Amino acid sequence: MAFGRSGPARCPACRQALGHDGLVTERVSAGQSNTASVVADSTVALSDARLADAGLVGGGSVRPDAGIPARVSAKAGTFTESVIREMTRLCLAHAGINLAQGFPDFPCPDELKEAAKAAIDADDNQYAITWGARAFRHAIAAKVARTYPGWTVDPEIEICVTCGSTEAMMATMLALVDPGEEVLLFEPFYENYGPDAILSGARPRFVPLHEPDWSIDEAQLRAAFSDRVRAVVVNTPHNPTGKVFTRAELELIAELCQRHDALVITDEIYEHIQYLGPGGHIPPATVPGLADRTITVNALSKTYAVTGWRVGWTIAPPAYTSAIRKVHDFLTVGAAAPLQAGGVAAMALPPSYYDGIAAEYRERRDLLCGALAAAGFRFRPPDGAYYVMCDTRALDPDGDDVAFARRLLETAGVAAVPGSSFFANPADGRHIVRFAFPKRLDTLRAAAQRLSTLA
Ligand SMILES: Cc1ncc(COP(=O)(O)O)c(C=O)c1O
Repeated sequence: MAFGRSGPARCPACRQALGHDGLVTERVSAGQSNTASVVADSTVALSDARLADAGLVGGGSVRPDAGIPARVSAKAGTFTESVIREMTRLCLAHAGINLAQGFPDFPCPDELKEAAKAAIDADDNQYAITWGARAFRHAIAAKVARTYPGWTVDPEIEICVTCGSTEAMMATMLALVDPGEEVLLFEPFYENYGPDAILSGARPRFVPLHEPDWSIDEAQLRAAFSDRVRAVVVNTPHNPTGKVFTRAELELIAELCQRHDALVITDEIYEHIQYLGPGGHIPPATVPGLADRTITVNALSKTYAVTGWRVGWTIAPPAYTSAIRKVHDFLTVGAAAPLQAGGVAAMALPPSYYDGIAAEYRERRDLLCGALAAAGFRFRPPDGAYYVMCDTRALDPDGDDVAFARRLLETAGVAAVPGSSFFANPADGRHIVRFAFPKRLDTLRAAAQRLSTLA
């Protein structure tokens, strides 16, 4: 068990199933169906009880009313509910300012709304083509070509439109990774990747990013690679650290993926939210040696402030796309047709839109970073994405991130995510909380005011 120093198994990703080396333990990976399921079930129940103690669980018990343990699959028993979404529920209960979950509190561009409304008015109500409306796929390919000259995507055979990047990542792993294979995850990691790997039967293996700039240690990455590795997940710009992968790092990944015949699955949902300026974000698919082994995952969610629309896509070589399309078909059939029409409008927005959001996010980042520094947090301002990963040692000598996040909400009225959510071993995140800033300046100013009470 990978219970952290402060007790609860908080990380949704594989917490109960991981040994301290970050590998799935035999109990689960061997897939002993019934016994493993029951054991996993009781583990989840224990975990939920502890999470409830910490105020982080609002429901989702796996026990039926009669008190007889319900059998769930071994896979489902190996991870908990999303801590981030739990923090949102807790925040609502406390009428707090939600800097936990990364969703905007400002409107999306009118162009998207008008296009989606027009599609509904035109009775665009039936299934779109399962792998995405033709107009949307062509618009995505055209936008990629405009944004990254030289990167050519064939919309007929290299794109699959999905229900958000969440489904894109899941469908990709289910389509391309086999049980028993390893998937490398840079740690700290966005909490979905661990469960994604487990649900596809793979063994997540963690490679640390190192503070202060969250860099890759070349020797550690080389040591993690082997012929068992099927894929490495890249997320650039990176949630939760704000790291933007450098060309040198991507070239190292390219060398290792070629040597071990591994894939890169890259989540670029924050591609336009970065503070390094033009050329700061480098899509791995454009790095020599990676074009034919990269699956790019993206979505409307963050760039266009429509996290609730659930529209994303994959870009991958034809053979991979064909497998992803099949899995996607049986998972969801397809993304909402009228919202794909909104996506066509999104792809047509001019370059000034992207310059505008980068400048606005910089202002939000600077405002929040000023408030966090004044309150006594230590951190490296993010180069990309919209999160600040904070060291809490000056404010929380106990080093209990869950208790600290709860106190922060109850006393200051600001919700953040406990750092342990982003690590396989919760102890590694016990001095960390993450704040999100996709919020109106007024919201951030109100949060800054509340945070000032901590100093
Ligand atoms: C790195 C990363 N990938 C994916 C997602 C989810 O994206 P979507 O809403 O498109 O499913 C998030 C949301 O916070 C994220 O931070």
